[in-house]
Order: sequence, then structure tokens, then C-alpha cells
Amino acid sequence: MKILLLGKNGQVGWELQRSLAPLGELIALDRHSTPADGGCGDLVDLDGLRETVRRLHPTVIVNAAAHTAVDKAESEPELARSINTLAPGALAEAAREVGALLVHYSTDYVFDGSGTAPWREGAATGPLSVYGRSKLEGEQALIASGVRHLIFRTSWVYAARGGNFARTMLRLAQERERLTVIDDQWGSPTGAELIADVTAHAITQAQREPACGGTYHLAAAGETTWNGYARFVIDTARALRPDLPLKVQEVAQVPTTAFPTPARRPLNSRLDTARLRATFGLALPHWQTGVRRMLAEIL
Ligand SMILES: NC(=O)c1ccc[n+]([C@@H]2O[C@H](COP(=O)([O-])OP(=O)(O)OC[C@H]3O[C@@H](n4cnc5c(N)ncnc54)[C@H](OP(=O)(O)O)[C@@H]3O)[C@@H](O)[C@H]2O)c1
Repeated sequence: MKILLLGKNGQVGWELQRSLAPLGELIALDRHSTPADGGCGDLVDLDGLRETVRRLHPTVIVNAAAHTAVDKAESEPELARSINTLAPGALAEAAREVGALLVHYSTDYVFDGSGTAPWREGAATGPLSVYGRSKLEGEQALIASGVRHLIFRTSWVYAARGGNFARTMLRLAQERERLTVIDDQWGSPTGAELIADVTAHAITQAQREPACGGTYHLAAAGETTWNGYARFVIDTARALRPDLPLKVQEVAQVPTTAFPTPARRPLNSRLDTARLRATFGLALPHWQTGVRRMLAEIL
């Protein structure tokens, strides 16, 4: 199997470099890659992407690159659209031409966040932000191409590498006695490791059973709010590293309206993962399992 990975240095891309390596020849690119590295990996260069796919003729393309700066996207909608909508569309056309399976990631932000029930794959979408809309239109462009595909909609992604919410909370917990963290957005923190491992498993199965292509919700089990997530991070850090100078005494609960941001975010980001678990015979661990592991790594 020859796999072309785009966005190799993102949270998910980095873990995919590990999880995809045993499946075959892996060509991993980022936006700065040149022909010497294997090809163009810049998602704003649609001709470069098409040429790379045609020349490499991969069996599988995994696109982990995206414009993920949700607030920034509000002020640069054309760039968000170019990376999140036009690039997946161009990749899909090129993948179809060479007969490759295209694996792509999308988001809980395609939904409007109403209600409290976990979203199923077929539920009506209603993005609240430029980012959410650009990701939804990327899904639609990809599907419209007719390419064989796997789209994984995930949520609240974290990784041990790079900056993340848990690290920010740990830093603030050492600086302040009182934190205020949103308590009315619900979802499931999902590790890049888990996403990458599930992706490798699903690719193997989809190559054997083409009928299992489609859109799937992929998130860790359980649910919490950003506030619950922050409290778990701080409590776990105290247990793992009693010597850490954590000043924080209180993690106050505030509504989303307390922190106005350029982009609106869904209140209900719960994803129903039953389809993924049934199709691929997988169990998804509880979000606390992955977060605890990540904390044990970074502390
Ligand atoms: N992060 C989340 O909470 C979250 C939630 C739901 C869904 N998702 C989806 O999950 C997928 C993976 O997200 P992630 O968390 O791994 O994101 P990430 O860490 O922000 O990584 C995205 C990667 O895309 C790259 N990129 C941006 N513009 C590019 C361009 N023009 N050409 C090539 N690469 C470009 C970035 O490179 P630079 O570092 O050079 O900018 C970065 O390495 C994305 O499809 C995202 O929409 C993420």
C-alpha cells in the first residue's frame, strides 16, 4: 500500500505518521514540502496537489491538513474556504482519477449545537461559523466527486505535542487561584492518538471491504464540558505530580456568553459513534483514559 499523508505536522498528522507507517510506503508532506520530499503538500496550491497525486499514484490519501483557527477563519473566510473546501474537492477529484481511497477529517462544528442528544451522521447540519461551514462544504465537495472515501468527524482534539487546552489550564492553574471556564458547551475530548489508530484500522478494513466507506463520527466515549475537562486536568495533575506548584483553588463555571469570541461555537458537540463502532468492530475508550495518559506523558 502506498499512502500519501498531508498535514503531517498537525496534532492528528503527527500521530498518523506513527500509525500509518506499518501499513506500507508512507509519503508524508506538509505545506513546505518540495518535490524532493515527495511533492507539494500546500493545500492552497490546488494544481500542485493534483500533480502530486497523479505523479505518486497512491493507494490511499489521508488529509490531516486544515485551517483549524476557528476564530481567525471569521476574518479570513477565503483562506478557510480554500484550505477546508476547495483543497478537499481537488484532492477528491485527483484521488478518484487514480483510484485512491481518500481519508479526510471533519468536525462537530458542522452542527448547530442545539439539543442535548449526540449527533448522528445523518442529522441535519447547520454550521454556526465560517470554519464549520468551510468544513461542511469540504465534506460535500469530496462526496460529490464520487471518490471512495472515509470522512471522520471528530471533536475537541488534543495531543501531547504542541499547545493544547490541558497545557493552558495547567499553566493558568500555576499562575492563578481562580479560573473561569465555560460550563455549557458539551463534547468529548478526543486524542490525536486515538484518531490516528482508528484511521489505520479503518483503512485496512476499507481496503478489504470497499462498502464500509462513508462518513463516521469518531470521538472518545463519555462527555463533559470545558469546565469539567479543566477540573479533570487539574485533579489528575495534582495526583500525578503532587510537587507541582498549583495555586488554583476554584474553577468557576461560566456560560459561553462570558467569553465573547469572533466565531460562535455549538453548545452540544456530542457525537454518536455507534456507526463507527459497529462497522469497524471497535471500542472507543472514555475521554478520561486518553487525557490521563497525555498528562502522564507531558508532566
Ligand atoms: N483541533 C480540533 O479540536 C478539531 C476538532 C474537530 C475536528 N478537527 C479536524 O481534525 C483534523 C485535524 O486537526 P488537528 O487538530 O490535527 O489540526 P492542527 O493541529 O491545527 O493541524 C492542522 C495542520 O494543517 C496544516 N495546514 C494549515 N494550512 C495548510 C496549508 N495551506 N497547506 C498544508 N497544510 C496546512 C497546519 O500546518 P501549520 O502548522 O504549518 O499551520 C497543521 O499542521 C482537521 O481536519 C480538523 O478540521 C479538529
